[in-house]
Amino acid sequence: MIERNDPCWCGSKKKWKKCHAPLLEEVEYLESLRKNYRSNYQILLKTSDQIEGIRRSCQLAANILKKTKALAKIGVTTNELNDFATKEHVKAGAVPAPLGYGDPPYPKAICTSLNEVICHGIPDDHPLKSGDILNIDVTCILNGFYGDCSAMVCIGEISESKRRVVEVSKECLMRSIAILKPGVHISDIGSVIEAHAKEKNCSVVDQFVGHGVGLEFHEAPQIPHHHNDLDIPIAQGMTFTIEPMINAGRREAVIDPHDQWTARTIDGQPSAQWEHTLLITSDGCEILTLLPES
Ligand code: MF3
Ligand code: CO
Ligand code: CO
Repeated sequence: MIERNDPCWCGSKKKWKKCHAPLLEEVEYLESLRKNYRSNYQILLKTSDQIEGIRRSCQLAANILKKTKALAKIGVTTNELNDFATKEHVKAGAVPAPLGYGDPPYPKAICTSLNEVICHGIPDDHPLKSGDILNIDVTCILNGFYGDCSAMVCIGEISESKRRVVEVSKECLMRSIAILKPGVHISDIGSVIEAHAKEKNCSVVDQFVGHGVGLEFHEAPQIPHHHNDLDIPIAQGMTFTIEPMINAGRREAVIDPHDQWTARTIDGQPSAQWEHTLLITSDGCEILTLLPES
């Protein structure tokens, strides 16, 4: 029998499902998939209208991230970056998702995680200095849809171990994105990331995970970046983040007891993170937070 991804019999060289497969069958197939994923895994597979909204929000988040990164220079404070990003959200008619999120309510619009801070660093009045590595994490809500991404900036001259985590964390993200298509298991993502980190003598944080995103900030499923046995097959219409946090030393994170957000490495060694929001398509994935020219 002809399979959905086989070449169509008409000679068009398109897949059967994109060509002469009955249109109704496609709609019914996606509807039943949606029902199954919602009831079995609490995972929301998005409709094409929702995908359009999420794509716009993701592009906005990526743009705000790019502009904010460009301002991160020696002498600039992370509060100044936060204020700039806040204005960019307002200009676009969007809301920064972190502000007031969680318990205790997160106090700022973006996260700025410096050096040994793994994630959820809170912008403050300390100026950036040469040798710093900084993660900037932007999540916006545009017309009710969420887009989430983060990237590293290196300030001035940085040490060898910092350069390594910055590089390896980006490689881990891009290598795991490269395997994404329907049917791949969520656990395969962690396998790719942990194997690469290990090869480069780095560790993978296991106390924070990627996540479903789009209609809410943090949806099912969790996306662990470490070795795990989550054998859920990813499916067309899933939107989620991958955001590996890679440490130069030990993997353990310690949360600041005062602000209850800032997560630091237990040994004070540097940590780095990159994040994209992904859409699973019929035969692969689209990086929703990738800008056209980059
Ligand atoms: N943007 C972060 C993530 O990637 C979450 C930040 S939670 C906050 O999931 F409250 F600190 F903003
Ligand atoms: Co995220
Ligand atoms: Co984020």
